[in-house]
Amino acid sequence: MTKYIGILTAGGDSPGLNAAIRGVGKAAMNTHGFKLIGFRDGFRGLMENRTVRLDGGALSGILTVGGTILGTSRDKPTKMPIGGKNKDMTDLVVENCRKHHLDVLVCIGGGGTAKNAYGLMQKGVNVITLPKTIDNDVACTDVTFGFDTALSIATDALDRLHSTAHSHHRIIVLEVMGHNTGWLALGSGISGGADVILIPEIPYDMDVVSEAIMKRFRSGSRFSIVAVSEGAMSKEIFKQLQAVKTKLEKTEDKKERKKLKAKRSELETIRSESTHKLTRELEARTHLESRVTILGHLQRGGIPSAADRLLATRLGTACADFISEGRYGIMVAARGDGVEAVPLEKVVGNRKNIPLDHPWIKTARDLGICLGDK
Ligand code: F6P
Repeated sequence: MTKYIGILTAGGDSPGLNAAIRGVGKAAMNTHGFKLIGFRDGFRGLMENRTVRLDGGALSGILTVGGTILGTSRDKPTKMPIGGKNKDMTDLVVENCRKHHLDVLVCIGGGGTAKNAYGLMQKGVNVITLPKTIDNDVACTDVTFGFDTALSIATDALDRLHSTAHSHHRIIVLEVMGHNTGWLALGSGISGGADVILIPEIPYDMDVVSEAIMKRFRSGSRFSIVAVSEGAMSKEIFKQLQAVKTKLEKTEDKKERKKLKAKRSELETIRSESTHKLTRELEARTHLESRVTILGHLQRGGIPSAADRLLATRLGTACADFISEGRYGIMVAARGDGVEAVPLEKVVGNRKNIPLDHPWIKTARDLGICLGDK
């Protein structure tokens, strides 16, 4: 029986999205004889009924292309910005799925996309998600596509920064993305030979970081490379954030909650802007000239790596198989060389942080890399 599949990409773009669309589409149409329709710009395009034809040659020549041919957005069905206000447009989104007679909606995205897809599932839409993000922070999958490409870009940046830091006898701090997890900073820091790696999972102590750099200096290394995750924070900010969170959990008082939320967002802003402060403070403490590089969206752009193309493609073709078996409400997770259908309930609301006993952390410590703690 012909099945009708809708597909969208949501959240921040990441290398490998087109490989995944192609993998789902080719297997669905060629192997199973299903029909495929794309929606533009994530859940917003589905709500606005903006579609893309994906039959014929539409899936040819996209494997190596960065970004997403469908476009993406961070808009959620439950909080759709319309006329300056956030509106719950879930019913219209569900109605459009019905209008297109979709048997299933494939949502390619990270943790937020899984949550939005789960919301639609609770309204009766069959959904399947595929885990993409350069952050590698989606729960219940070994890895997400996009991560490998971003890891290579961040590693390449560290390689390049080494020679200039070395020539000028400077501290160079590289900020990498990763949201609230440190996979990119830790992975690239190890593979790019950083001397200090700061990640959100380990709040850092400035005394420890500056002492590690001074120790290198005393032993004759007059430059240092610091890889810092955008979500990393000092011990002080961590303690303050924890205190606000604990108070928020305990209080029902509306005024008090408003005050606490404002304090939390103030602390989050300090945290997200802390790389420049960290660099200035390192310079002041060590008297070594210091510079900062914020890698930013470079990490998300361009041609996906071979590993990401392979991962996205095999998750995509497996997705088509699950559709043919009528298995919905799942994320197609990477498990070793294979895949696993993980119920969305297990994915939603969970984030894959780096466990403190993770082998990469041990490797970093064994190399003598400073992780900012004692
Ligand atoms: O989730 C991917 C990611 O690149 C994060 O690493 C980063 O925090 C965020 O997206 C940036 O989002 P935007 O592109 O909306 O600025």
